[in-house]
Amino acid sequence: MITVSDILQLRQQVKAWRQEGLTIAFVPTMGNLHEGHISLVDEAHKHADKVIASIFINPMQFGANEDIDNYPRTMENDQQKLIAAGTDLLFTPTPEIIYPKGIAKQSFVEVPNVSEGYCGESRPGHFRGVATVVCKLFNLVQPDVACFGLKDYQQVQVIQTMVEDLSMPIDIIAVPTVREANGLALSSRNGYLTAEEKAVAPALQQNLQWLAQEIEYSRKNSPDHSPDFIGLTKKASMAIDATGMKTDYIHVCHARTLQPASEDDTELVILAAAHCGKARLIDNLQLFL
Ligand code: PAJ
Repeated sequence: MITVSDILQLRQQVKAWRQEGLTIAFVPTMGNLHEGHISLVDEAHKHADKVIASIFINPMQFGANEDIDNYPRTMENDQQKLIAAGTDLLFTPTPEIIYPKGIAKQSFVEVPNVSEGYCGESRPGHFRGVATVVCKLFNLVQPDVACFGLKDYQQVQVIQTMVEDLSMPIDIIAVPTVREANGLALSSRNGYLTAEEKAVAPALQQNLQWLAQEIEYSRKNSPDHSPDFIGLTKKASMAIDATGMKTDYIHVCHARTLQPASEDDTELVILAAAHCGKARLIDNLQLFL
């Protein structure tokens, strides 16, 4: 695996592969890699000749109250995992390379509608930071295909919308969430959990499953009435809080627009975030009726 921090070196390697007629798949990350990230690399191999990954802890997507300095940095370990997964090139730029003028003077990409609400509301400016850095990384790597995890469901919709709205010639592949056996979605943030918190954290996904079952049951048994999305969501939220976690949000939405679910939507997603000790966990569940 070639590791480069420099833009010129990255561009030269990409150009060389292009001249050979090879296709490129891209997996952007912030490092501290686990099996969820590696599943994106595995998927990327299915879609292109060469796989490029990036590790960049993007300051633009962290809020002022979010502790970017303590975000786990495990570069050597990450490199080993990427080598084992057959990654061809790792791009590891510094903030100075990505934002030479500083963030405040930087042009940005704002994706309306799907960025609003949910994590967009809890983390103002977050999706602007994500869309901007992913746009820049796309322009640097110029991939044919890029892989993103459905674990960050709203993020996938933001990227997909950006690519469509701005006519970027890149296929976005959404990859299923990798979970522990107990249902907890793998996340770098799980590292912040104590043993007791780790024991209650699976209740987030369990309550999304309960909510999905109730919606399915309601649709089957009272097809003429809308499921009581608000009432059921409230119950799920109370059950999550009863475990000691604190629900940030939980909503049933249209799977693509992320607008609140309506009576006759057939493709839904339940989006949720909850505080568990020091960690803010997010999860979701897609529901096809
Ligand atoms: P990061 O949190 O490092 O995640 C990198 C990619 O891994 C994202 O596409 C994320 O959805 C995916 N991922 C994380 N946990 C996963 C799991 N359990 N199963 C499957 N995929 C999983 O998301 C970001 O970084 C950043 O916002 C980024 C897109 C790199 C822009 O800075």
